[in-house]
Amino acid sequence: MTEMTPVPNSTTDTATAPKAVPALPDAQTVTDVKHYTDRLFSFRCTRPASMRFRSGEFVMIGLMGDPHPETGKVKPLLRAYSIASPSWDEELEFYSIKVQDGPLTSKLQHINVGDEIILRPKPVGTLVHDALLPGKRIWFFATGTGFAPFASLLREPQTYEDYDEVIITHTCREAGELTYGRDLIEALKTDELLNEVIGEGFWKKIKYYPTTTREESPKMGRITDLMKSGEAFEDLGVPPLNPASDRAMICGNMAFNLELKDMFEEYGLVEGANSNPQHYVVEKAFLD
Ligand code: A2P
Repeated sequence: MTEMTPVPNSTTDTATAPKAVPALPDAQTVTDVKHYTDRLFSFRCTRPASMRFRSGEFVMIGLMGDPHPETGKVKPLLRAYSIASPSWDEELEFYSIKVQDGPLTSKLQHINVGDEIILRPKPVGTLVHDALLPGKRIWFFATGTGFAPFASLLREPQTYEDYDEVIITHTCREAGELTYGRDLIEALKTDELLNEVIGEGFWKKIKYYPTTTREESPKMGRITDLMKSGEAFEDLGVPPLNPASDRAMICGNMAFNLELKDMFEEYGLVEGANSNPQHYVVEKAFLD
């Protein structure tokens, strides 16, 4: 981790001291911020010209921490964040939780257009098409901010080239937490560029299945329970997952990831990785 030179303090001769705070390492400029609920927001920032990534990957992003009380030194405060924008986008997008006493998100939630964030341009991750064998239908399973990598993959042409059907399930506590995902999927219908590049009406391949657990909405319940009872498959008009046709990516809280993994093993699906493509892959949501 890089350690920054402290900003000159009051005992320093300001006439001879450098005027500006040292530039942030790997600084990128915020270009847009949207707040959805008191717990969720998204933002966009500039993208390093040389940075390449595969849709679904994550990077380390953050801000400078507070100065050390004795030495005055400041260190970057970084967390892993899935990139929510697709690989072809000239900017980067992130979708984040706000934790009032979280070391990073307590500050990050206050960023504005024009502010700088730190971004280490070394993308990695397992929620990538390369980690899956060819199949007919792809399932994206998310809870909360675990929607982020799927926001990238839903805007990635390869998703529609590789699969006949794209099913995205999103389980949240409250209805307002579905807004980011719902708006994003709705916007695909009128996205001229994607309809031209992927093919007019590509979005018709998507089946969106949002559910809430702690607030009334058209579909209540955890997706895991809705699959166990068969209700989700009935609603979606598809059979339960099977290794011959279905591929899946999981991104949610730890309990959710583990429960789905167990269910998949029962369906006969095998977990894959970049080096060993199989039927499904898992990433945990990166919460503060
Ligand atoms: P629930 O309200 O029943 O706990 P969180 O904000 O805690 O990360 O949870 C996000 C969503 O994920 C909530 O709707 C929560 O439901 C749901 N969830 C938590 N654990 C599981 C699990 N094991 N399987 C399915 N959904 C889960």
